[in-house]
Amino acid sequence: MSEVQKTLVLIKPDAMQRDLLGEVLGRFERKGLKIVGLKFIHLTDALLEEHYAHLTEKPFFADLKKFMQQTPVAAMVLEGWDCIDEVRKLVGSTNPRAADAGTIRADLSMNMPSNIVHASDSPENAAIEIKRFFQDDEIYSYEKITDRYIFGEGV
Ligand code: TYD
Repeated sequence: MSEVQKTLVLIKPDAMQRDLLGEVLGRFERKGLKIVGLKFIHLTDALLEEHYAHLTEKPFFADLKKFMQQTPVAAMVLEGWDCIDEVRKLVGSTNPRAADAGTIRADLSMNMPSNIVHASDSPENAAIEIKRFFQDDEIYSYEKITDRYIFGEGV
């Protein structure tokens, strides 16, 4: 069953360094995802250890942490139909060289950890990650004149 969902996206320091923030944000906008939360965050050690808890024992974790702290990241909450899976589709698989052409990671990057963007991978993680980075009052509900095309079921 399709449903309107929210998901958490972080635009990573390689995108910030390479002036790709607008390009990446634009791809989400052009898809028809609604940006309902948006801010810069500097990721502390504690936040990264929580966010990447499944990776703290990996040999690449220290480099991943250093990389994620190079610049502030642009954190956003996106809303749309089935948007958790839809955003992961746009983002592509973790290794940019294994990602399908046309995805953000395949089109704009070559290596890990510098693969441009983080996106929640399940409804459970989306809920946890949105709470990790956003207060309730930083997430907005608003109407756009394009909603009937993007969110409407019919014409
Ligand atoms: P992971 O949570 O496995 O993937 P995803 O970002 O697609 O949800 O990994 C988190 C990040 O860790 C990944 O985006 C890039 C980095 N990473 C490496 O640097 N080396 C690796 O071998 C892996 C698997 C991930």
